[in-house]
Amino acid sequence: MGKVKGKHRQDKYYHLAKDARYRSRAAFKLMQLDSKFFFLHACKSVLDLCAAPGGWMQVAVNKVPVGSLVLGVDRDPIRPIRGAISIQEDITTSRCRLTIKRIMAEKGVGGFDLVLHDGSPNIGGAWAMEATVQNALVIDSVKLATDVLAPKGTFVTKVRMEVLNISGLYDYHIHM
Ligand SMILES: C[S@@+](CC[C@H](N)C(=O)[O-])C[C@H]1O[C@@H](n2cnc3c(N)ncnc32)[C@H](O)[C@@H]1O
Repeated sequence: MGKVKGKHRQDKYYHLAKDARYRSRAAFKLMQLDSKFFFLHACKSVLDLCAAPGGWMQVAVNKVPVGSLVLGVDRDPIRPIRGAISIQEDITTSRCRLTIKRIMAEKGVGGFDLVLHDGSPNIGGAWAMEATVQNALVIDSVKLATDVLAPKGTFVTKVRMEVLNISGLYDYHIHM
């Protein structure tokens, strides 16, 4: 049987996100990571790659010091979030890199304290194929992060691994 995905996956976090007015259940992933590793409170600049609809951006804006730069990028539009900037770009392109660098220059940011990446290809294909494309996206995000991350900055990404056993394919999310 196919795995239930996206807006049809109405688990506990879906309802919590709705009640707390977060745009995605993913917001809770970032909150959980931050409660464990405590990296958001001191960030003066955050780049959120593959950020739509903007749940992670909402969490970041709430946790970083006032006046920090929170920049979200996605190939889909992101509805405005107070205290954040968003751009509609494909993170694999050089145009995206140049746009990010232009905004960094405008805001006087030499490097981001934190780069987040929660990209998913949304190709609607086979599960294993999606994992492959998603992990290619991780490589693209790493390349971009190494170009714009401040020294001693933090990079958070999502890696998907498919493990085949006798009952079928399982999906794991690892946060580094
Ligand atoms: C799971 S959602 C991100 C959710 C987000 N972290 C949040 O909290 O709302 C994955 C996003 O990756 C984006 N994406 C996939 N490939 C992309 C690419 N090449 N460039 C930019 N965004 C991409 C999709 O458009 C989608 O919005």
